[in-house]
Amino acid sequence: MQLKRTVNCGELTGNNVGEEVILNGWIAKNRDHGGVIFLDLRDRYGKTQVTFNPDVDGEMASRAKRLGMEDVIAVKGVVQTRPDGNINTGMPTGEIEVLVSELEILNEAEPLPFLISDRETGSEELRLEYRYLELRTKELQNFMQVRARTYQAVRTLLSDEGFMEFETPVLMKSTPEGARDYLVPSRIHVGKFYALPQSPQTYKQLLMISGYDKYFQIVKCFRDEDLRADRQPEFTQIDIEMSFVDQDDVLALATRLARGVFSEVLGVKLPAVFPILDYKEAMETYGSDKPDTRFEMPLVEFAAYAEKADFGVFKDVLASGGRVKGLILKNAADKISRKVSDGLTEWLKTYYGIKGLAFFKVDGNGLMGGISKFFEEELQQEIINDFTLETNDIMFFVSDSEAKTLQALGALRLELAKRESLIPENEFRPLFVVNFPLLDWDEDSGRYIAMHHPFTSPRPEDVELMTSDPAKVRARAYDLVINGYEVAGGSIRIHTREMQNRMFELIGMDEAEAEARFGFLLKAFRYGAPPHGGIAFGYDRLIMLLAGTDNIRDVIAFPKTTSAASLMDDAPSTVSEDQLKELHIKLIK
Ligand code: AMO
Ligand code: AMP
Repeated sequence: MQLKRTVNCGELTGNNVGEEVILNGWIAKNRDHGGVIFLDLRDRYGKTQVTFNPDVDGEMASRAKRLGMEDVIAVKGVVQTRPDGNINTGMPTGEIEVLVSELEILNEAEPLPFLISDRETGSEELRLEYRYLELRTKELQNFMQVRARTYQAVRTLLSDEGFMEFETPVLMKSTPEGARDYLVPSRIHVGKFYALPQSPQTYKQLLMISGYDKYFQIVKCFRDEDLRADRQPEFTQIDIEMSFVDQDDVLALATRLARGVFSEVLGVKLPAVFPILDYKEAMETYGSDKPDTRFEMPLVEFAAYAEKADFGVFKDVLASGGRVKGLILKNAADKISRKVSDGLTEWLKTYYGIKGLAFFKVDGNGLMGGISKFFEEELQQEIINDFTLETNDIMFFVSDSEAKTLQALGALRLELAKRESLIPENEFRPLFVVNFPLLDWDEDSGRYIAMHHPFTSPRPEDVELMTSDPAKVRARAYDLVINGYEVAGGSIRIHTREMQNRMFELIGMDEAEAEARFGFLLKAFRYGAPPHGGIAFGYDRLIMLLAGTDNIRDVIAFPKTTSAASLMDDAPSTVSEDQLKELHIKLIK
């Protein structure tokens, strides 16, 4: 390479006029104005217009004319002011151009599968196959820069707080709980497997026992689970653990970290104190443990009115211990046609397993349509007054088991808000959800499972309930939620062997199994385990929020599809017979 860059494509301004410079980059645009060739040269810093005048060098101008999109070139030339009328105030280098005296073609590009200037010209599959090209687009460059700046901000903030960065093993013991493990067969230990960590949970607790009271790690986690828009099989966490702390200390640290990052990366000031919402209240009010509080539309209790009405469905559900709750969509009844309400009903039935969606509308001085006929005149007035209903409001109802009622209405709340554009953009509403249940009943296995993970401590005042009513035990567990995303989750841990054994027992693990799977941790608890707790931020979700995208694949350089495949390098792939033999593995077809 003869011409090595002296400047990048984003830095020249009017102040550089007259200087001789060398630029290296990719061709983003090639225009011929009556023989004068204008190229836009691009690198990750910006674009610069470079000009070839046939009067200066005719042969070079005709070589430039033949250059195609994304060819890589080097040019030497003098910075000059653009002629009047050609000045582009919309870009930092818009005042100047470089009049080229030397051209070196470094590499030519084949015709592109999609336009770098408009990634929508390719399907997502095509773009994932050519991910290295998509990474050249403006959007992806911005996302990657946000991601890179955030690493730095996190490291600085946590180091300044006295946290020590660690690396923990990627090949570990398989201790499945929650998601499925990714397994790695051992060649040396025939028939044995490592697992890739679902999180460094046990390691970070062991580091507390080792006395490293403030730990952090930006770490890959691997979970073989069903994927969604905000989930990847391998994703990144900012993993944090602290000793001698209680819940308030961890929430305060998470608040400082979130505020620091938003301020450093986006210049956005989050509130000094994030609201704290009880899990139960979150479920009752928003039908979700990760409520989007950028808009209102709370779920409302309707049992008292249902009792007085003539509608058998609601009464039956209430009589059998179920719930009736509703929500009000203001001033949009006219938009909910029969077709729309039928559509919503079918969607909720299919995905949330409820039996139906009921509604009535408000008109003039009464209720109308839907189930309004089951409410007498006086009851109608009472409802209108109590819920301050107005003409053109519509109220929806679900009546089912508690879990289904809340979940379905929570989903409906979000869906209606999206349809009606009730969610303000460029606004961030962080909050903590606390007091999660310790346990979750798992229908499939017919046993309790840990709602967060089995190292989570019960609230001290609920310990008694572990024997009498396990479902009621609340955990010292918390999530940080921003705009409806679970951005971080953590808990105060169990730190005694006795309590840990009790917890294992509750989730149906007998002593022998607990010993086989977590014996190392139980042993460590014998040698002076300090009280400790922590939290892990989902790094990719955090970047999604900072970068303003709702696709997790946008913020990961080389992501996987929803079927956990990498379309670019074709992973997963088959391996040779020899490789399998070495691992003592035989495939069952
Ligand atoms: P948890 O399982 O809640 O906790 O994970 C912490 C955070 O990681 C993010 N996250 C994911 N992001 C992308 N794709 C996924 N598949 C995925 N799964 C989780 C979420 C979540 O809030 N060891 C505990 C933390 C602790 O207790 O300290 C843990 O892993 O944003
Ligand atoms: P039906 O009396 O079955 O025709 O139902 C009247 C209305 O109530 C319909 O709009 C149903 O979709 C709705 N509905 C039926 N069951 C439920 C339920 N469990 N919860 C809420 N709405 C329901």
